[in-house]
Amino acid sequence: MTVRQLHLLGSPVLRQRAVPVAAVDDAVRRLVDDLFETMHAAKGVGLAANQVGVAQRVAVVDVGEDAPPPLVLINPRILQSSEVIESAEEGCLSIPDIYGDVDRHVNVTLEALDRDGHPYRLELSGFKARATQHEIDHLDGILFLDHLSAVKRSMLLGKWKKSRKGQSGYVKDVTPEPAGEL
Ligand code: NI
Repeated sequence: MTVRQLHLLGSPVLRQRAVPVAAVDDAVRRLVDDLFETMHAAKGVGLAANQVGVAQRVAVVDVGEDAPPPLVLINPRILQSSEVIESAEEGCLSIPDIYGDVDRHVNVTLEALDRDGHPYRLELSGFKARATQHEIDHLDGILFLDHLSAVKRSMLLGKWKKSRKGQSGYVKDVTPEPAGEL
């Protein structure tokens, strides 16, 4: 397993709509394992393939609960979402140190392939449902910033640009990050 480099806001792959996985083969399994390794190294709770520069519909979620176990999301689809919406703070490993309150469905029913390529369905609620919606957004080229008001977004983008002053490139080696980022 390899800790891969993270792509940061500004890297075009984060805005790409990732393509479905045609077959879950060894390369896809390696990608899944590397996503877990990279996410854990970065102390994140979710990571999408776009964030390591691979525009394929693969993501992982591990919010530290045993049941259900960490999620492997290959070609994930949300089948049903609750009408109930909850707002809570989110961050993103691709936009370090930037946080904003995002509305998400409290419950979602999900369909995806697991690491062996077997389809499964799962009902998720709370933080796990939130993290999963955030990661599936990534696969569609959507970032949590896109869910904020224009005013809030431009404020946070200003803060981001300031924090990036003097730095070039949009790829970084993984160094420990504060816990709780998606
Ligand atoms: Ni993210």
